[in-house]
Amino acid sequence: MKQEILMNLSPQYLWGEAFHYLEETDSTNVRLEQMAKEGAPHGTVLLADRQSAGRGRLGRSFLSKGGVGIYMSVLLRPNCTPMELMHLTCATGVYMCDAVEKAVGLRPQIKWTNDLVMGKRKLAGILTKLGLKPGGRVDWAIVGVGINCCQTLQDFPPELQATAGSLRMALQEPVDRAKVAAAMMEGFQKMDEDLLSRQAEILKQYRLDCITIGQDISLVRGEETRYGHALDVDEEGALVVRFPDGHLETVNSGEVSVRGMYGYV
Ligand code: BTN
Repeated sequence: MKQEILMNLSPQYLWGEAFHYLEETDSTNVRLEQMAKEGAPHGTVLLADRQSAGRGRLGRSFLSKGGVGIYMSVLLRPNCTPMELMHLTCATGVYMCDAVEKAVGLRPQIKWTNDLVMGKRKLAGILTKLGLKPGGRVDWAIVGVGINCCQTLQDFPPELQATAGSLRMALQEPVDRAKVAAAMMEGFQKMDEDLLSRQAEILKQYRLDCITIGQDISLVRGEETRYGHALDVDEEGALVVRFPDGHLETVNSGEVSVRGMYGYV
């Protein structure tokens, strides 16, 4: 797989020396965080064929079966404050949509904030984490993406079969995993070039890709569920929601479900 990916990378790809491939690990995000703390350079990419303890948002696990998915984490060391990276998850969504579109010719959409979807099925998830220097500036950012690539419906456990999807299921034809992985790596490199200088353009594209805007949503935080209407995504990537009493809130955390998706009716 590593050789196939290297063969698919363009000569403009600069981080080839810092590309690591493992048949199996617990979580590429956890491993890469460890590597970051040991001094791994900007642009290090860790890709695993399977993960035994893949991590998702909100403490969930991420199913990471071998031979079918792409489980990739990249380490960035931008010279900035954490506030300047508020849009990092949104930016990752946009550049991963670009990568998928380049590799297979079909552009996913984004369910705010970090799910890539095709049709009404979840295709991919994004999990980011920052480490700070003693002065409070960013030391490292780990961006992890898991994409369902070659799965058939039977590859998903029964409880996910109504909501999970893969590129192969969407395209109804075999998908070249190495080609998609190489496009993702190039996408990360492009994102790194643009991240701090093109924030407004990135968020403009995010709004075009985001299916949550204009939809009725539910927002779950702890024990509490509230209902509202998603109006927009602001310049830092937060969701602007109008609640039934008319007041607006920008939402940064919690679980947002879109009516009509993933079983929310
Ligand atoms: C989510 O959907 O909640 C986020 C899922 C993120 C999964 C990816 S797979 C590569 C990286 N390693 C992990 O353990 N998680 C991320």
